[in-house]
Amino acid sequence: MQKFIIQGGRPLKGEITVAGDKNTALKLLPATVLVPGTTTFTNVPGIQDVKVMLELLTSIGAAVSQKKTGEVNVSTEAVKKTDLPSELVTKVRASSMFIGPLLARFGKVSVHHPGGDVIGERPLDLLLDGLSVLGADIKQDDRTYHISAAKMRGGRFIFRKVSVTVTENLLLAATLAKGKTELVNAAMEPGVIALADFLNAHGAKIHGAGTPTVIIEGVQKLRTSAAPVAIIPDRIEAGTFACLAAATNSPITISACNPTHLETLLKTLELMGATFTRDKDSITHVPHKKPLRAVEVVTHEYPGIATDFLAPLVVLSTQAQGLSLIRETIFEGRLFFTDKLKQMGAQIIMADPFRVVVNGPATLRGRKIISPDIRAGIALVIAGLLAEGTTTIGNIYQIDRGYEAIEERLAALGADMKRVETDYF
Ligand code: EPU
Repeated sequence: MQKFIIQGGRPLKGEITVAGDKNTALKLLPATVLVPGTTTFTNVPGIQDVKVMLELLTSIGAAVSQKKTGEVNVSTEAVKKTDLPSELVTKVRASSMFIGPLLARFGKVSVHHPGGDVIGERPLDLLLDGLSVLGADIKQDDRTYHISAAKMRGGRFIFRKVSVTVTENLLLAATLAKGKTELVNAAMEPGVIALADFLNAHGAKIHGAGTPTVIIEGVQKLRTSAAPVAIIPDRIEAGTFACLAAATNSPITISACNPTHLETLLKTLELMGATFTRDKDSITHVPHKKPLRAVEVVTHEYPGIATDFLAPLVVLSTQAQGLSLIRETIFEGRLFFTDKLKQMGAQIIMADPFRVVVNGPATLRGRKIISPDIRAGIALVIAGLLAEGTTTIGNIYQIDRGYEAIEERLAALGADMKRVETDYF
């Protein structure tokens, strides 16, 4: 077991490089099931969730190799198995991303209900609905789904609620379907575009990714492409570092990011009184002279403020003057971590599971806390860097799921943060 120990209040400055996007890597890896030959990915983050997805690929018979440089090679030519081991499936939500490609290639798949962050109920009903529109037959045996379709067929699916992984899964399932598929009210995240670009580069016919209407004209098979595929920058990591820079009022450059993916977040931070300069692939926080001001924050699907920014924004709001109203609209469990911030001295009132009011500015004090999920975990790291005294964070597997060697990268900015082996917390 490991924990982080942070001595707060150290001045931070310098440059931090953003890693490849976790959630894009988690979709492109299963997408290789549809692609002949070997695919080379670069800029793959060295995080726990990627490790689990590579183990899932290996478990169905794929050949996988990973280098420390962020290069990953995958060949799924020898894949034969269509049932996924439940001990891996229950580790990451994105394991559900194997459903679309396995169904498209083999006409069947068996999978346990996926695990992942405990941030809400996270059902699969939309996905199952969408797959049946594309001709799949679904049987459920306790928590395991057995899905089959002799041949997927095109169809029109209307999302009553926007869903990122369901958009991506249906896009994969429809790639080899007979006829045309139309996805209406689809998710518009950059990862959806990256997935469509990847499939199109291998001969798929997908139009409109990144808009609410995605059209997929089914093709008989995909073809090999020798060109390496670079994973796009992680906009959630970049935006989280922007919140860190604003909260600690530090001169920090966040490099290797795509500033156009961060516009609504930066607009909000600037409304609070923070200043950022933008370059083609970096942003720089310029320390503010006046205190930050409280604002209202409402999460929204892309291009709105991502639900994944909610936790860092709550921590940032503890440093702003006045009452911040922060409202989550996507997951019912995202705000429960705020009790840990209250233990650290934050003044937060939870109006209901979807809304908190933060009264700032507050002086945070170091405490021993447990990281409940990946995004709350990184927010608690920011709180620890802001706090007076020592903060100890346990259950850091949750943070390692999404942020590669975070203690080394923050220490390079001046943070006093160490990873320590421990038998107890
Ligand atoms: N939903 C349903 N039925 C479904 C699927 C989703 O009701 O069949 C609901 C969810 O419960 C939620 C809403 O629809 O209330 C939107 O969920 P969505 O499906 O978009 O979430 P997701 O695809 O499971 C992805 C990211 C999350 C990110 C959300 C933002 C991946 C692997 N995960 O989750 O990232 O917060 O989109 O919408 O891409 C993270 O990286 O830490 C993370 C949780």
